[in-house]
Amino acid sequence: IIQEREGEWTSNEMIEILGFRIPAFFVYGSQGPELLCDFITNFQTKSDDVFIVSYPKSGTTWMQEIIWQIYNNGENTSKNIFERVPFLEFSTSPILGEFADIAKVPSPRLMKSHLSYSIIPKGSSDGAKCKYIYIARNPKDVAVSYFHFTVSLRSFGNGYNGPWEFFSKLFIDGNVGWNKWNDHVQGWWKHKDDPNVLFLKYEDLKKDLPSQVRLTANFLNKPLSEDIINRIAEQCSFNGMTKDLSRYTVRFNEGQTSILRKGVVGDWKNYFTPELNERFEKEVLSKIEGTGLEFDFEL
Ligand code: A3P
Repeated sequence: IIQEREGEWTSNEMIEILGFRIPAFFVYGSQGPELLCDFITNFQTKSDDVFIVSYPKSGTTWMQEIIWQIYNNGENTSKNIFERVPFLEFSTSPILGEFADIAKVPSPRLMKSHLSYSIIPKGSSDGAKCKYIYIARNPKDVAVSYFHFTVSLRSFGNGYNGPWEFFSKLFIDGNVGWNKWNDHVQGWWKHKDDPNVLFLKYEDLKKDLPSQVRLTANFLNKPLSEDIINRIAEQCSFNGMTKDLSRYTVRFNEGQTSILRKGVVGDWKNYFTPELNERFEKEVLSKIEGTGLEFDFEL
C-alpha cells in the first residue's frame, strides 16, 4: 500500500482510505487519496438517497439496474449503468469518463458503494434517514468472480497477472480491494433489521427474481404492478442484461471490461481444489457460523 507519491498514481498500487484498501487508480491523477477521504467523510446524505452497497463482485451491478428500473417504472435504457447510478468511491477521480459525478446527479440519488457499515455516509442535516440496500453473495463465487475481474483489469494496465491459487489466498486474508469479505458482510448483517437497511442475497435473486424485485420495490416505497415487476425481472435476468453489454462496460485509457461474465451460482466448483475448499471452510465460513447468515453454494 502506498499513501504518498510524487506525480501520478499508476499501475497496480493500492491506497488506504479510512482503513480501506482500494485500487490507486481510483484517485488516478496527481491529488492522491486525501480528496477522496474528505469527500467520503464530509458527504451529506439526503433523506431520499438510496445506496446500493456490497462487497465487490456480489451482484452490485445487478441491483443497480433493478433499482434504477424500479425508479423508472420498468424502462429499459441503453445508457451506461454508471451514468445512471454513480459509484461513490469513484467520485473524486479526474478520469470519471462514463461515471457520473454525484454532485450533479438529480435526487433521488441512486448510488453504488463498497464501503463498510462503519464508514458509509450516514450524516444528514435534517436528521432524515436514507436507505441502504446491501447485496451479499456466497464467498466462494465472489472470490472466483473477483479473480476474473481483477485479471480483466489488465487491459487498463492495472490488472492482476498472477495465478488463481495466489489470488484465493489474497482474498482469504483480505489483501484485496475493500479488505476482508467476512468483516464487510458481517458488519452489514448486524444491521439487517434496521428499518432503513434491506439485506439481500445473490442466490435468492437467482432463485426467484420477481419476488426479490417486489420486496425491493416495497422497501423503497415504490410498489409496482405485477406487470412491471415481471418486466423488470425479465429485463434484469442475465439474458436480459447481456442483450446490451455496453451498458455494463467499464472503459479506461485504451482498455475495457464487462462486469457481466457468467452469472451463475456454483462456478467455484471449477476452481476450488479440496485443499482450498478446506481452508475456505476454516478461515472464511466458520467465521459466520452462529450469526444466522447462510448462503447457498449451488442451486
Ligand atoms: P460472475 O463473475 O460470477 O459472472 P458486481 O456487479 O458486484 O461486480 O458483481 C458482478 C457479478 O454479478 C458477476 O458474476 C456478474 O456476471 C454477476 N451478474 C451481474 N448481473 C447479473 C444478472 N443479471 N444475473 C446474474 N448474475 C449477474
